[in-house]
Amino acid sequence: MTQTDGGKPLLDCRGLEITFNPGVADARKALDGLDFMLAEREFAVAIGSNGAGKSTLLNAIAGSVSLDRGTIRLGDRDLTRLAPYRRAGLITRVFQDPMSGTAAGMTIEENLALAEQRGRRRGFRAHLNPSRRDRYRDLLRTLSLGLEDRLTTQVALLSGGQRQALSLLMALISKPRLLLLDEHTAALDPRTADIVMQATLDAVRQTDVATIMITHNMRHAIETGTRLVMMDAGRVVYDVSGAEKNSLTPEALVERFKIDNDRMRLNG
Ligand SMILES: Nc1ncnc2c1ncn2[C@@H]1O[C@H](COP(=O)(O)OP(=O)(O)OP(=O)(O)O)[C@@H](O)[C@H]1O
Ligand SMILES: [Mg+2]
Repeated sequence: MTQTDGGKPLLDCRGLEITFNPGVADARKALDGLDFMLAEREFAVAIGSNGAGKSTLLNAIAGSVSLDRGTIRLGDRDLTRLAPYRRAGLITRVFQDPMSGTAAGMTIEENLALAEQRGRRRGFRAHLNPSRRDRYRDLLRTLSLGLEDRLTTQVALLSGGQRQALSLLMALISKPRLLLLDEHTAALDPRTADIVMQATLDAVRQTDVATIMITHNMRHAIETGTRLVMMDAGRVVYDVSGAEKNSLTPEALVERFKIDNDRMRLNG
């Protein structure tokens, strides 16, 4: 069972099933009756081999793929049939590709203003007045990347790491209830990945937003978050938090990976 401190979970996914290309030879059951719950302020790290269904789970939560079966609730809202754009203010995402989260032809401050508009009613415009610029500067300063002095720089001129860090700020500026990170440091060199990961930890701690982060980096998986979830073949096969999570080592995790994969093969 998942950890929700006995209270009502923030995110409640039940019996999620998705098959891609149903009825044809290469049909793929990406989610296979998956149950997943997440409490307020929980930070879950999701790991699992290629094709385990991790991205599909995040896509289902954000609404960019539709479910064959199952329900998704966030707080008091039933998201199951809610259009993705209507989830946009509640759930935000950062992807692996630094190019996908930001608009290259716009400046840093324009990107932040656009992100701030997300999920607001039509007609709301985040005007770039001096107090808003001061706020953006303060936010950018928290990244320690020097971006606070470059508000009017075009995003196309930033490095991949700077763009990912900006994408992270943009994902949080609309104060979402849930943050989804899909291997958001995987395309960066190790040093930059560590900087963006540290920015992630700081931002999540400061905002207390409930978070699901996918990673293939075992060290990040162990050092980050309050809970670790392993997926295989469209299901959760291992779910730990607290002292058990804190005692994990990369070696133990890799070992368990193997065991679970073997078991899945034996059963399947
Ligand atoms: N849009 C799609 N159309 C067809 N098949 C898809 C689609 N998206 C995912 N799949 C398939 O669903 C399964 C789960 O894919 P998913 O991308 O969720 O895996 P993942 O755990 O994120 O893997 P990775 O670690 O490689 O990113 C895979 O077999 C994949 O090929
Ligand atoms: Mg993926």
